[in-house]
Amino acid sequence: MLRVEGITQIFGGLTALEDVSFTVGKGSITGVIGPNGAGKTTLFNNVTGLYSQTSGRVFLEDRDISGYSPERLAPLGLVRTFQNIEMFNQMTVLENVLVGLHTRSRSGMISCALKLPWHLAEERRMREEARKWLEFCGIANLADIEAGALPFGKCRLVEIARAMAVNPRLLLMDEPAAGLNSRETADLEELIRKIRESGVTVVLVEHDMELVMNICDAIVVLNLGKKLAEGTPRDIQENPDVIKAYLGEG
Ligand SMILES: Nc1ncnc2c1ncn2[C@@H]1O[C@H](COP(=O)(O)OP(=O)(O)O)[C@@H](O)[C@H]1O
Ligand SMILES: [Mg+2]
Repeated sequence: MLRVEGITQIFGGLTALEDVSFTVGKGSITGVIGPNGAGKTTLFNNVTGLYSQTSGRVFLEDRDISGYSPERLAPLGLVRTFQNIEMFNQMTVLENVLVGLHTRSRSGMISCALKLPWHLAEERRMREEARKWLEFCGIANLADIEAGALPFGKCRLVEIARAMAVNPRLLLMDEPAAGLNSRETADLEELIRKIRESGVTVVLVEHDMELVMNICDAIVVLNLGKKLAEGTPRDIQENPDVIKAYLGEG
């Protein structure tokens, strides 16, 4: 589904990623782990077109998407969530999901301004679809609540609903369990499984090792900008280099 080939990202004097390569199988859940500052978010920023890598290439299936903007990637099915959630606090939960849907709406500004009949029909259809994604994420009851009034754990779910509304084939999630309690994390685990079952390939940056080991088919370990290891959860747990990177020598 995704092939990352030799990505290097240099910021001034700092090499945040050095020659990182890996592949993500279609229909899999792949974890990207590593200590703070390892380059995980930078990797996502490169794959999703927020940064253009210093060198290297990214392929979505067999299409070279290196340097594509997020706006160009969304219609191809590559969508992400962020480590720091961006919500429109004055809008309702439903409207926050509608923002995701509008990125693939046919409705232009003129038909919207004139409230042409087919535009109104489209608006109604999109509201129904947004509601469907809230339901999918288990938060349909929050549709009309102002997003700014939500507890943090629910914001995560709204963000995931909004990403799903863009109709991804590949969903990149940056630390979705950060700040969640154990109950919320267990629910998130179920939701990620459900997302995969719906046919979406998932790549997950995550610090919660229990979650990662439970749901990932494959794991890529980054350390100091380099790929340290790649394999199944069991391979990774037993890899001496990985243990050393996390726990130090001795
Ligand atoms: N836009 C940027 N400008 C300069 N340095 C950056 C930028 N983004 C990330 N970095 C640096 O790159 C390194 C990797 O950061 P990051 O990808 O956020 O790590 P992680 O997500 O694994 O914790 C860090 O040293 C960070 O300070
Ligand atoms: Mg990060």
